[in-house]
Amino acid sequence: MIKFETIKVYVFDAYGTLFDVNAAVNANLFKLGKNAEQISMVWRQKQLEYSWLRSLMGQYTDFWHITQEALDFALDAYGIQNDSLKIQLLESYRHLDCYPEVPSVLKTLKQKGLTTAVLSNGSPDMLNDAIKSSKLDALIDVVLSVDDIRVYKPDPKVYGLVTEKFSSANKEILFHSANSWDIAGASSYGFQTAWINRFNKPKETLPFKPDIEVQSLMEVLKMIE
Ligand code: LAC
Repeated sequence: MIKFETIKVYVFDAYGTLFDVNAAVNANLFKLGKNAEQISMVWRQKQLEYSWLRSLMGQYTDFWHITQEALDFALDAYGIQNDSLKIQLLESYRHLDCYPEVPSVLKTLKQKGLTTAVLSNGSPDMLNDAIKSSKLDALIDVVLSVDDIRVYKPDPKVYGLVTEKFSSANKEILFHSANSWDIAGASSYGFQTAWINRFNKPKETLPFKPDIEVQSLMEVLKMIE
């Protein structure tokens, strides 16, 4: 369980946790045809794989570049050659919808006088666009991007950005992510963690477990109240 009385900062992953990574494909469903759902899955999976591979290879490039390389892979894998569709998908990715509960959860945390932050692989300009288009700017105190240290999650240095920024102990951070591998990284680093298992995915068998598993951010909020 989470020891809420010790939490100083409520930190959120961005893609998949605050923002719906399938929203870009959903906005272009008709043009993508019957493989749309698969394309979205491959796009996301390749985006993550490329972030891990580039970190291991010491070949950092920013997340926007990786997002484009991953989309090229996914479209190519399904035999789609359509430059204007690619531009539209990327444009949609800059303005992904947030999940429905996100604004009210962040607003309630702010009303309680609590500190909120985002910690993401996303490049600062991508995060800025997504946060602005979902009108979350006033609800997030600090946005931390891996771009400052040029290595991706789950490198421990990434989670260290939070403790450094807030001069906090690891256990004073509650880290929320819908990405189970990101939760493993944050738990291994020593944060308290909430896995937002939005799609009822199977549990990882890594030894770095979440403190709680819920289906939406609203459930975490209910535990605080
Ligand atoms: C992020 C990726 C992991 O926002 O979704 O950091």
